[in-house]
Amino acid sequence: MLGERDPGTASPAPEGKTVTRLLHVSSSPRGAASESLAIARTFLDSYRETHPDAEADTFDLWDGSLPEFGPAAAGAKMTVFADEVPTGAQAIAWQAAQDTFHRFAVADHYLFSVPMWNASVPYVLKQFIDVVSQPGMVFAFDPDQGYTGLLTGKKAAVIYTGAVWGAERGSAFGRDFQQPFFDDWLCWAGVTDITTIRFQPNLATPRRRRRAPGCPRPGARRRQDLLSPAPPSGQRYRPTQPPGHLPSRRRARRRTPPTPRRSSVTSTISRDELKAGLDAGTTTAVDALPESYYAQQHLPGALNMVADDVEARAGELLPDKSAAIVTYCSNPACQNSAQVAAKLEQLGYTNVRKYADGIQDWVEAGLPTETGIPAAR
Ligand SMILES: Cc1cc2nc3c(=O)[nH]c(=O)nc-3n(C[C@H](O)[C@H](O)[C@H](O)COP(=O)(O)O)c2cc1C
Repeated sequence: MLGERDPGTASPAPEGKTVTRLLHVSSSPRGAASESLAIARTFLDSYRETHPDAEADTFDLWDGSLPEFGPAAAGAKMTVFADEVPTGAQAIAWQAAQDTFHRFAVADHYLFSVPMWNASVPYVLKQFIDVVSQPGMVFAFDPDQGYTGLLTGKKAAVIYTGAVWGAERGSAFGRDFQQPFFDDWLCWAGVTDITTIRFQPNLATPRRRRRAPGCPRPGARRRQDLLSPAPPSGQRYRPTQPPGHLPSRRRARRRTPPTPRRSSVTSTISRDELKAGLDAGTTTAVDALPESYYAQQHLPGALNMVADDVEARAGELLPDKSAAIVTYCSNPACQNSAQVAAKLEQLGYTNVRKYADGIQDWVEAGLPTETGIPAAR
């Protein structure tokens, strides 16, 4: 296998004492105006209170210390992939990548501040990923088995911010390649314990522009209130917007263009009925969201199957075609659950229903969820 673990990844423990290290990787250049950095500051204050012996450091990706990953570095990567040793300019570039990786890998806990930029992440964060994602550092590679992430045993909290895109706002407001991209990179690197913090002030709401500056919507929480309850250590945040900035569900429904869908024939199930079926073990829930979302949070005992996988996996995961199956995804605007339900019905499943309000409704009702990916699925 290419890429033995780099010895520099181990956290030194002076005088036999284990020091926990948190690294805040900051990708917003907006300083005092930054939403993600304001949340990060609150998070760090809380972290220091709950981890008084830990060391916390910030890596500002905009401070000029992040090396480029250009011709020499890319050449060095391919040289290492060919099991050879980089020389000359390649060696210098490779050393810079190693130094950056060591600064990153020495931490046990990560906090990332990640604004949405043009539907994805700021380019410095991609540059950081390109610099540190090296064989023997972030991953190992085997021609038969593929990649193995080497950053195991670490925890990450990711602050995702955005101002226009929203899961309930429809495709005219953009698409989300921010969280799927970054969560996927973390999981690929071996960091699977991920806590998500999402903050999305809706700059796309016309009513907001008409309101006098500083006047919150009736019933809305001020931004200060949203930041003040510091995230307790280890608590999982739902990957949704804070309540004060969500358009009401009724309004979100009205805004979504009515698209004729075959799935509209799938009948729905209420939260209470679904809970009763899950508690009794008579209903199987199917989470229709991508695996990174499922790993963060899903309904108790739910299976994970996206629409593209139904044909290949339904027979194995759901052998009884008359069993009670309920598909769900994020919220009423999310169409994944309808697509999975429609495909199951096409395959001959006779008792498929859809929990249209989705996991957002389940969590808002205070019901329990599970995280992670079961070993045998
Ligand atoms: C260059 C740039 C591109 C942006 N692109 C998007 C976008 O595609 N979708 C979106 O919802 N918000 C977009 N935004 C808005 C930011 O994501 C939003 O204001 C976020 O809260 C900024 O985080 P920060 O304050 O921590 O920098 C963009 C902002 C900038 C500066």
